[in-house]
Amino acid sequence: MGRKRKNAERTETSNEPPLKRRPSTTPLPDGVHHYQNIDEVPWDIQKYWHQGYSIFSKYDDGVWMTDGSWYEVTHESVANTIAQHMAEAAPAGKSIIFDVMCGVGGNTIAFALSGKWKRVYAIEKDAATLACAKHNAEIYGVADRITWFHGDCFEILGLDESKKANTVEALKAIAANYGVIFASPPWGGPGYREAEVFDLDTMQPYSFGYLYESLKKLTPNVVLYLPRTSDLRQIAKVVGEDKKTQIVHYCTKGSSRALCAYLGDWGSLKLGDL
Ligand SMILES: C[S@@+](CC[C@H](N)C(=O)[O-])C[C@H]1O[C@@H](n2cnc3c(N)ncnc32)[C@H](O)[C@@H]1O
Repeated sequence: MGRKRKNAERTETSNEPPLKRRPSTTPLPDGVHHYQNIDEVPWDIQKYWHQGYSIFSKYDDGVWMTDGSWYEVTHESVANTIAQHMAEAAPAGKSIIFDVMCGVGGNTIAFALSGKWKRVYAIEKDAATLACAKHNAEIYGVADRITWFHGDCFEILGLDESKKANTVEALKAIAANYGVIFASPPWGGPGYREAEVFDLDTMQPYSFGYLYESLKKLTPNVVLYLPRTSDLRQIAKVVGEDKKTQIVHYCTKGSSRALCAYLGDWGSLKLGDL
């Protein structure tokens, strides 16, 4: 990776010329960055900077990130593979996908690019992160396929009984009739990196059980993006051992980065090279 990213050679990219850069003189929203040089990058995220264009191949076109999103974002090749799997295995009649914790847009953009969904609904509670997702979707040319919501997904989707938002009833009906849900939650909690088997009950701020029990009230068809060492016995226990669940590991450079749990009525996934 070159010292200055804008001059570096791309490792994973299309042949299209870069879109016109945003003027660098325009101030970015608070908490949003487009680093162009490793010297600008805070030391604790420099190792992610070195992962280069695997995160966003169009980084040089002006991708926006928050500092926290460097280690949370789903890398582009993984996001595209998940999007392809979800498109192929989606239950009949489902045409809307909800990315309920959309971050800076890694998965949302891939869902929109897949061409499968009439609409992508993307929810994010952090304003700066959502600003990045919207901007990045423009860079990838898919902003017009996405409806954005700023706020807590459990409130917006009416899953927090104590707080009702205006959009709830309409969204609930859409989710129930036409929707599937993808969630890439934070993986905070004791020792997700160190644990040989990650205890999904300790995942913070939302345990696997809380996420699944909440989201399945909207639709049974939920895909959760979880740590690669997640305890599969816990998933089986929460979902019910008689129910079919497909677990897929998503790898880069031969190692698993994460797994997806396909919960509900997904068709059999056709795995292999995409
Ligand atoms: C692991 S990141 C998602 C990364 C995303 N898949 C991407 O590729 O950029 C999780 C995101 O969920 C957001 N989040 C956490 N709790 C939320 C909630 N209750 N409602 C909406 N967003 C939430 C966080 O702010 C964070 O941006």
